[in-house]
Amino acid sequence: MSRTALRRALLAWYRRQRRDLPWRRTRDPYAIWLSETMLQQTRVETVIPYYERFLERFPDVDALADADLDDVLGEWAGLGYYSRARNLHRAARVVSDEHGGALPQTCDALRELPGVGRYTAGAVASIAFDRPAPVVDGNVARVFARLLGIREDVRRSAVARRLWEEAEALVQGASPGDWNQALMELGATLCTPRAPRCGDCPVARHCDAHARGDAEALPVKSRTADPRPMQAVAALVMRRGRALAVRRPAEGLLGGLWDLPGAELARDERPAAGLRRALEERLGLAVDRPRRLGAVEHVFSHRRLELHVFRAEAPAGRVRRRVFDAHRWLAPDALRELPQSAVTRKALSLIADRGAGAAEGA
Ligand code: ADE
Repeated sequence: MSRTALRRALLAWYRRQRRDLPWRRTRDPYAIWLSETMLQQTRVETVIPYYERFLERFPDVDALADADLDDVLGEWAGLGYYSRARNLHRAARVVSDEHGGALPQTCDALRELPGVGRYTAGAVASIAFDRPAPVVDGNVARVFARLLGIREDVRRSAVARRLWEEAEALVQGASPGDWNQALMELGATLCTPRAPRCGDCPVARHCDAHARGDAEALPVKSRTADPRPMQAVAALVMRRGRALAVRRPAEGLLGGLWDLPGAELARDERPAAGLRRALEERLGLAVDRPRRLGAVEHVFSHRRLELHVFRAEAPAGRVRRRVFDAHRWLAPDALRELPQSAVTRKALSLIADRGAGAAEGA
């Protein structure tokens, strides 16, 4: 395969066909960094409105560095993988304090920032700063497995190493940012996991899998375990018409986000009993009349959560926090305005659908 011919064909196709995406209309390194951070683990269509709102609220590194983490998480709410937002905020402070507000330009220097790994560093260095830095994400790995005919498990570290080496070799030349985005674009639009459109592919002539007719079987991936099921409870805990909101500690799952009080159930524990235990152990609260409203489901990366949602009264007793790091009593409608995860939103929607957020008899 001629590298030059392959590069030329794919770059020409990208320049003709690329989607008009908001982060492709800017050269601002901060905006590009933000887009690449959001695009890890999240689809383009989901990212676009978040990206635009976030930039409007925090238009540059210094604005982000000056912001409260709560406000940053508020803008991220619903996008998932919240450590991305916490790291972005920490990194903005480093860039603001130590680099005068300008992002470093090399891969190595970028990787010193919190949350910036090999992928993000390569993407920012190439797209924002024209450095010949490689990127390999899921799309690129699939494109390479097919083009180069890699028929071993791409999850093996030796294979991952080979993918990065190929990316490094191919990114050498003009327009490294366009080249990397061309590979991602091909993976997102034609070289898709199912039913790849090889008939429209600008580099089918160079493709080993196309020649052998096994593109759809690649890449080879060992099966990952299905998400592990887990059960949890959460409650709208009411006192004199106000509802209790709690903030999760910064470290750990959904750290720093506001939530309804609750906990994971122990094995074989009944939801109502689990709720009483959780509120007692975690908040020192005894509740009256817990009423189960239903359940919502949510899939995290490795876990499938079934969350049983309750409404309960806690007429008296001081809140003694043992797990959460802040709490507030709020009008039920105000709960939605806190930075919160998608699963908490689902629970609040269920509560609203059941009409249970309205003050009962108050
Ligand atoms: N996924 C990750 N980075 C991307 C980009 N720059 N354009 C489109 N999809 C992407």
